[in-house]
Amino acid sequence: MTEHTPDLVLPACDFTVFGATGDLALYQLLPGLYHRERERQLPAETRIIGVSRSALDDAGYRDMVSRVLFDTIPEDDLEVGALHRLIHRLHHVALDVDSTDGWDRLHGLLKDHERAPAVTQGFTTDGDTRDGVDPAAPTRIYYLAVDPGLYGAIAEHLAAMDMVTPDCRVVLEKPIGDGLESSRRINDAVGAVFAEHQIFRIDHYLGKESVQNLLVTRFANTFLEPLWNSRWVDHVQITVAEAPGVAEHRAPYYEDAGALRDMVQNHLLQLLCLVAMEPPTYVGPDTVRDEKLKVLQALAPITGPGVDQRVVRGQYASYAEEIGHATDTETFVALRADVQNWRWAGVPFYLRTGKRMARDESAIEVVFKEPPHAMFPHSEGTTKPNRLTVRLKPDEGMQLHLTAKVPGPGGIRLHPTSLDLSYATAFDERCPDPYERLLMDVIRGIPTLFMRRDEVEAAWAWVTPILERWQELAETAPETTPIPYPDGTHGPGEAAALLAADGHAWQES
Ligand code: BG6
Repeated sequence: MTEHTPDLVLPACDFTVFGATGDLALYQLLPGLYHRERERQLPAETRIIGVSRSALDDAGYRDMVSRVLFDTIPEDDLEVGALHRLIHRLHHVALDVDSTDGWDRLHGLLKDHERAPAVTQGFTTDGDTRDGVDPAAPTRIYYLAVDPGLYGAIAEHLAAMDMVTPDCRVVLEKPIGDGLESSRRINDAVGAVFAEHQIFRIDHYLGKESVQNLLVTRFANTFLEPLWNSRWVDHVQITVAEAPGVAEHRAPYYEDAGALRDMVQNHLLQLLCLVAMEPPTYVGPDTVRDEKLKVLQALAPITGPGVDQRVVRGQYASYAEEIGHATDTETFVALRADVQNWRWAGVPFYLRTGKRMARDESAIEVVFKEPPHAMFPHSEGTTKPNRLTVRLKPDEGMQLHLTAKVPGPGGIRLHPTSLDLSYATAFDERCPDPYERLLMDVIRGIPTLFMRRDEVEAAWAWVTPILERWQELAETAPETTPIPYPDGTHGPGEAAALLAADGHAWQES
């Protein structure tokens, strides 16, 4: 979408990662940067500065990262030259963000780079090189791969040390806060130091190929748009099902967050926005985000006892045993959302996500209405409504389900079939991990696929009354806990009943 911007010679950047020894940095960000290094897309003279509490020097950190990359990058993608180039960009600064110690070392390192000779070799976004003098100081990027409760403190330290330059950027991971109020507090604290255009709030679902392709399918083709409304769409289902449970090391975070905060407030609502939004006039940071915001603002509030009817929360059977005590944290949510606008009036959007589900399977299903008149004899029961599946996992791609004639001379027999687009087979290009795309967008300074403050807060404004109702129930009716569901299933039966009440059923493969 924004990939083919004019080729700029990107200035060098100092990519500082707070939380440098954590899983996100080691298993997502650094592998992502490795792949971009391999494509020669990282600007020359770029450095990656890991910041963590570990007492590591540059050599120790380089060693740690090489071992992780050797273990995690598939053999076919491993190119020793690229790996060395990346490793030599790495530095490490040990500091505790709760203390004032160590910040001067980080400051000194960044300053040194500014004073270093400015003759660089620039790389275009296509990876071609251009020799020349780069007059620009390195762009500073601060990636906060730490607990969101620390974002404000880090921003304050950076400001106090005079490390915030007009063109620097800060990247924030989700969830930003645990409700509307705390989200506002964090956004205020970061916003007191960085201007909104410098803040990149990441939601890695927006970096998925299939998700970006949804926009392309909708807006670079004409055949869907006339059908994409309440006249022809019966309902929409968005499922993000994960087979694993909550990983042991994430248990403390997840226990506080639960599925609604961890997945629905961000990933699932972003997917809903992309399905429901109006076409922007062009693909630009504000045009796209303005349209997504309108969708969030059009969501019918779910509040008070309405929550009990429209939202199902569940917990997989072995969860309490895994974390060592009984708890009310939901590991599964299914709900019905309604977008109250002209296009979508009366079309239910069903969202569902859970851990320890039957399989890893994520998809958006746009289910169309039945033909208004059944003209083929004996077709009853042999046809299914048309359906567009956007497959996020496994095998990213898209399927259009339709009814076809069974070949043969003996009259017309109907059969459901599908047109299938699989990225793995349709394109020669490797399907990049979402972080690769998003990290390059940060380096290029393109915020279209990042969440703006008003979007994040609109999503929290919709989700928070659900959390408040659960809190109220915990105090007044403690017996109404999340519904248990057996490990390895599709969640509690109540999730099926939610759709059955409207005459629908979840699409299971
Ligand atoms: C993260 C959540 O944002 O997304 C995790 O915190 C979840 O709990 C993950 O497992 C799912 O991402 P993906 O790309 O594997 O579907």
